[in-house]
Amino acid sequence: MQGGVNGRPAAPPPPPRRAAWEALAEHQRRLADVRLEDLFAGDKERFQRLSFRVAGMLVDLSKHRVTHETVALLLELARAASVAESRDAMFGGERINLTEGRAVLHVALRNRSGRPMLTDGVDVMPQVRAVQEQMHRFSASVRSGEWRGHTGERITDVVNIGIGGSHLGPQMAVRALRPYADGPRLHFVSNVDGAAIHDTLSGLNPATTLFLVASKTFTTLETMTNAHSARTWRVTALGADAAVARHFVALSTNLTAVEAFGIEPKNAFAFWDWVGGRYSLWSAIGLSVALAVGYERFEELLEGAFAVDEHFRLTPLAENVPVLMGLLNVWYGNFFGAETWAVLPYDESLTYLPAYLQQASMESNGKSVTRGGQPVTWQTGPVVWGQPGTDGQHAFYQLLHQGTKLIPADFIVAAKPQHPLTEHHHILVANFLAQTEALMLGRSAAEAGDPAKSFPGNRPTTSIVLEQLTPRALGSLVALYEHAIFTQGVVWDVNSFDQMGVELGKELAKRLVPEVQNGAAVAGAHDGSTAGLLAAIAALREGRQP
Ligand code: F6P
Repeated sequence: MQGGVNGRPAAPPPPPRRAAWEALAEHQRRLADVRLEDLFAGDKERFQRLSFRVAGMLVDLSKHRVTHETVALLLELARAASVAESRDAMFGGERINLTEGRAVLHVALRNRSGRPMLTDGVDVMPQVRAVQEQMHRFSASVRSGEWRGHTGERITDVVNIGIGGSHLGPQMAVRALRPYADGPRLHFVSNVDGAAIHDTLSGLNPATTLFLVASKTFTTLETMTNAHSARTWRVTALGADAAVARHFVALSTNLTAVEAFGIEPKNAFAFWDWVGGRYSLWSAIGLSVALAVGYERFEELLEGAFAVDEHFRLTPLAENVPVLMGLLNVWYGNFFGAETWAVLPYDESLTYLPAYLQQASMESNGKSVTRGGQPVTWQTGPVVWGQPGTDGQHAFYQLLHQGTKLIPADFIVAAKPQHPLTEHHHILVANFLAQTEALMLGRSAAEAGDPAKSFPGNRPTTSIVLEQLTPRALGSLVALYEHAIFTQGVVWDVNSFDQMGVELGKELAKRLVPEVQNGAAVAGAHDGSTAGLLAAIAALREGRQP
């Protein structure tokens, strides 16, 4: 069995997953030395058989180290883990987020079918539509100039203040859809590091700037600290607390806290506890996207996601692309010992996609306790990382090609660019193709004439080809990953919808703030290193050597 868990040897999960798991482990031993080029040579239809079309995307899984038998065994594991039943429970509004006792219904936010979506017997669609209408009206009025700032000027700049799911999705989508941007300029502030808000505000005019305070809980330290600094900046510049009314709106589930902050209820855009932070791009948290590109484009994003939701919901597991993608991650993570998964968009507009997927995957599946509360003995969520090609080719691809680690990688490209520089796009696409081919084929030492110049090859990749990076295509792409991540979580038997792992650090930081302010640790409150570091920072701040 590959890949130890927390320093202990890995062991297969108990029944009902065990039989399929052990069969896969046995199968992996037989397949370990099989080369991808031989699989292609033995099956002329391999590309056709293992590449899929979903919602306008072409997803090529043929460069994976799998045979008919591998796929059959992975599907058996999915069945044993009740992937289809768990998916249906999610769409059915069941409280599948067990630790928090919540439903997981972000799919309702992009339900374009007119069908009700129930949780606890209540249809959530009327409230979803009401907030969507509010977003539509508001974004249209800001974009048209009907909405004016306190001094009667038109809004030219919008600052989204949020972090994690209240930041990464909107930032990723606004960047991805820049070719469609025809509204106010969008800025994003997430880090509590004062440099973030300070540098952003220093270029802006308080009379023409609108702030979106984006926070599901409206208690997050970073976001509330930044929001208070933004409010002080406004009030200092315009001299009136009343100025807040025309310049601050909130995107949150906690409307009481929104009001306490001084934002009027009519400027609050609600969502609900059944929308996880990392799945909230589709909710009121997407308001920045609607402001940047228009509400109609935001709706196209939802429609793209809906198309993949329908595919995920209705397609048999054997052709269900997000299910297959999720299972491939399990295959490498649990049976080849792969610890990471690279996301490599050949698209500058998808600059923030790897960071977005980092949260989507790592906050969802970075768990080591099962849904039943037992410690896992198998690997769960991989480390997700990446950046746009071709930049990475001149940096970390060396390790992908010749390093000792097996790193499955997703390559993403659009067939048609959003700019007129066709020649650039041809070069970009050529690189996209060259890399996955090189990773697969490698080059033997004999062929290279020098071991240092040889490439082991047999390195698995997924290629995702979009026609063009439209709002619809972006929605589909993100939903594809969401459901792949869902599938992995079910197979690993973890709750993909809580994030208890972020709490301890938050608690300790809160306790440490006064100690940092005072420049002195509370006696006996910390380990030797933390106390030493705190003292050193205090000394340096005061110009003393620690
Ligand atoms: O600390 C993690 C987290 O809770 C994420 O899950 C969430 O997306 C982020 O913080 C921001 O939370 P909020 O939207 O409540 O400010």
